[in-house]
Amino acid sequence: MGIPLRSGNVRIPNETMRLIIMAFAGVVFGLFLGVSFPTASLTKMNLPSTLFPSIDLTYIEDKYSGLSTQTLFNALNTLKANKDSSMSSYNYTEKKIWIPTNPRGAERLPPGIVTSESDLYLRRLWGQPSEDLTIVPKYLVTFTVGYNQKDNIDAAVKKFSENFTIVLFHYDGRTSEWDEFEWSKRAIHVSVPKQAKWWYAKRFLHPNIVAPYEYIFMWDEDLGVENFDAEEYIKLVRKHGLEISQPGLDASSAGLTWAMTRKRDGSEVHKDTEERPGWCTDPHLPPCAAFVEIMATVFSRDAWQCVWHMIQNDLVHGWGLDFSLRKCVEPPHEKIGVVDAQWIVHKSVPSLGNQGKAEGGRAPWEGVRERCRKEWTMFQDRLTNAEKAYYGALGINPYNETAN
Ligand SMILES: *[C@@H]1O[C@H](CO)[C@@H](O)[C@H](O)[C@H]1NC(C)=O
Ligand SMILES: *[C@@H]1O[C@H](CO)[C@@H](O)[C@H](O)[C@H]1NC(C)=O
Ligand SMILES: *[C@@H]1O[C@H](CO)[C@@H](O)[C@H](O)[C@H]1NC(C)=O
Repeated sequence: MGIPLRSGNVRIPNETMRLIIMAFAGVVFGLFLGVSFPTASLTKMNLPSTLFPSIDLTYIEDKYSGLSTQTLFNALNTLKANKDSSMSSYNYTEKKIWIPTNPRGAERLPPGIVTSESDLYLRRLWGQPSEDLTIVPKYLVTFTVGYNQKDNIDAAVKKFSENFTIVLFHYDGRTSEWDEFEWSKRAIHVSVPKQAKWWYAKRFLHPNIVAPYEYIFMWDEDLGVENFDAEEYIKLVRKHGLEISQPGLDASSAGLTWAMTRKRDGSEVHKDTEERPGWCTDPHLPPCAAFVEIMATVFSRDAWQCVWHMIQNDLVHGWGLDFSLRKCVEPPHEKIGVVDAQWIVHKSVPSLGNQGKAEGGRAPWEGVRERCRKEWTMFQDRLTNAEKAYYGALGINPYNETAN
């Protein structure tokens, strides 16, 4: 391994020069733009147009390519005088950087420049970077939306203060219509047709990308929020040490499946419940404790760091995840709970279901529902097999209850 890496480092002068010029071009271009635009072919990131005034990028690019050779040469010399390491001609072999503790693949960089975490903060193309943000949002809320639910989402977003970064995942391809809402201009719009919440979460909410946010709200579009305030909710979650939580569901909610997620009157939070006889093998395990649903889940930064890794790329509906969230916190029956004092109504609008496909005489939602159930089994099998493999390698049978 060591030899090919080493020989790869000894570059012929021409190649070094080419790299220097490319790096320099990057610096100059960066100076003008202040931001680089990701070009993802699959997705279209729609950033608010008001933050990007009518500058003509073509004009800037023209201007750059129109820089005279003399100007480039002068700028190059200025950088050299500043002892910019990427420009100076010291002995690379002797001073080669290799920092094993850097993130994998970035070992050649001096640690001071390594930026392994990001954020979803919107910046300006001009001015001092340090003055870009007037408020530094500490929390993140994401909604997976179709335009038909716009009034519901508008009402929901208004329950989240300016301390929240707002992300909308659009599954119906309609994004520009949302500009009728003032808040839409400070929201981040990610549009990928016909995907489900956990598909977006896996792709766009990597823990390193959402690192600055203390709490992450991952919500569906069909929630009634009249009796909910996000800042108050966070106060309660902090007070009761909840790493994974959801607001209690009002009795008027559609499809109240579980006793655990029902709102309780006169209580701030609850962490366990009684279920129908025979439904719980252990009072500390789902669905009697250590359990919330996936429609309005709220994760702490640490919990999300774990949960993101548990989400499967192909199991987009996330069914079964609710029963396994407990794998990510310890002890789960104390760190997972339902907030009663800030509660919501689950309206159960069959929206994403309609994005399915009518097949064999069945309605689109039937195929979606069938896939949800299948995914649940598949997820459960994968998790069980993974645990068996882990404990098997250690020679332990975790399913031997008398052993504990
Ligand atoms: C660079 O340093 C290495 C190791 O000290 C040495 O073998 C090599 O001759 C040096 N090259 C130059 C151009 O000074
Ligand atoms: C936003 O966060 C700051 C700092 O924690 C807090 O003082 C302020 O009240 C919050 N804003 C709202 C609307 O709650
Ligand atoms: C379960 O664990 C107990 C105690 O360690 C042991 O005596 C028993 O043989 C185990 N049973 C099985 C089926 O592994």
